[in-house]
Amino acid sequence: MEQTEVVKPETLDDLIKVLHKIFEGDCINVEEVQDIMEAYESNPQEWMKYAKFDQYRYTRNLVDEGNGKFNLMILCWGEGHGSSIHDHTNSHCFMKMLQGQLKETLFDWPDDKSKGDMVQKSQRILQENNVAYINDSLGLHRVENVSHTECAVSLHLYSPPFQVCQAFDQRTGHKNTVKMTFWSKYGERTPFETTISQENN
Ligand SMILES: [Fe+2]
Repeated sequence: MEQTEVVKPETLDDLIKVLHKIFEGDCINVEEVQDIMEAYESNPQEWMKYAKFDQYRYTRNLVDEGNGKFNLMILCWGEGHGSSIHDHTNSHCFMKMLQGQLKETLFDWPDDKSKGDMVQKSQRILQENNVAYINDSLGLHRVENVSHTECAVSLHLYSPPFQVCQAFDQRTGHKNTVKMTFWSKYGERTPFETTISQENN
């Protein structure tokens, strides 16, 4: 079979156009999406308007709704900010580093019999422009900016889009359903009422 060559998206807008094209169909080639996201070279000038930080926890900022096929968002992680251990509601999750580094820790799903700490499978540091991929069949993860001096910015694509996920307690494996909201949409701060429960992902 002929190898499809990845055409490098020159800008974030360019990347979004290519993603729209890729997601037109019903079948998703994970590697293709990963390659195209990795090929885009992060340029802060292009994504700065979406990168809004909060002092206390990381923020989710909507960039594009992908014709209903995917949600593209920018997450802003202050020093020491991290997510809970969470699932991805049967969606594909792609995560590209735009700035700084994030630590990703993978966990097995807790089974009914297991008591105590959840089992940690692996850990890695994601560097600028790297793209990580996860879905529920690969397990659960926690994402953290462990730096005390640098913030981090990441670009996330979820397909199909979802608004709730499950958060897990590492000590017990117990889970909670969590609703996710946006700190901003298209560069504009979301009205306060809708941002009370800022959780996960
Ligand atoms: Fe996640």
